[in-house]
Amino acid sequence: MNSATNSLRGEQIALSFGGIKVLKGLDVEFRPGEITGLIGPNGAGKTSLFNCLTGAYIPQQGTITYAGHSLDGLSPAARAGKGIVRSFQHVALCPDLTVNENVMMGVARNYSAGWLNAFLPLPRGRKEREEMKRAAEAALTDLGLPDVGDKMPGELPPGMQRLVEIARAVVGKPSVLLLDEPAAGLNNSETRDLMKVLRKLTSTDLVMVVVEHDMDLVMSICDRIYVLNFGEIVALGAPEEVRTNPEVVRIYLGSDDDE
Ligand SMILES: Nc1ncnc2c1ncn2[C@@H]1O[C@H](COP(=O)(O)OP(=O)(O)OP(=O)(O)O)[C@@H](O)[C@H]1O
Ligand SMILES: [Mg+2]
Repeated sequence: MNSATNSLRGEQIALSFGGIKVLKGLDVEFRPGEITGLIGPNGAGKTSLFNCLTGAYIPQQGTITYAGHSLDGLSPAARAGKGIVRSFQHVALCPDLTVNENVMMGVARNYSAGWLNAFLPLPRGRKEREEMKRAAEAALTDLGLPDVGDKMPGELPPGMQRLVEIARAVVGKPSVLLLDEPAAGLNNSETRDLMKVLRKLTSTDLVMVVVEHDMDLVMSICDRIYVLNFGEIVALGAPEEVRTNPEVVRIYLGSDDDE
């Protein structure tokens, strides 16, 4: 299958709030088999673009397609059903569920009984619950968190909560993985581990997009990088090209508040 076939594309995406243009007619293509970076200063529109791709925001203009099929009009849940999943800039775990149960929510779409039914005392529900539990434990182990499944999220330090959130995003074997600042709140060694995990996750049919302010992470794991500023794409290229692009240098040197 040609690599462009299973791309996630946005064409002419425009979004505004109360007359303020947040995205100004963007064209993007996120390809399978690659990690694409999405960088830019605070308020550039990175999270808003993710929200449009996942269906949380409905752009006033433009079209979003995955594998050549339009996603326009599909709810976030319907898009998740197609394997389009994201992690959030601000950790969004359910505080009343254990860590393992939180991660299980990310795999439920792969099971016919669903997440709630897995808790009913029916034989099929029990079997599916066991399988989901094992998948969740494996995802946590892959992220270096083998022994925290029975804890409540609030008992974990922020860096670990972030990794749990990523485990929930990857456990269901997504086809499109959108990570919004996955390294925020992680210390250096957790960030290094995360980079290894993300690299290991790449496969020929996974579209992975990473929004990140940690330039070392972006430059070392991404194949291509889009640079967004004030709702417009100002650069696209391999890490080296982007790093030396005069417009990008100007944007980053000109603003001190993009950490
Ligand atoms: N729901 C909303 N209502 C009004 N304005 C919004 C909304 N969502 C985003 N915006 C505005 O859109 C602009 C882009 O915000 P966005 O969160 O997409 O930026 P970002 O690039 O993710 O920034 P950061 O790096 O700080 O996370 C900002 O000016 C923000 O205030
Ligand atoms: Mg953001």
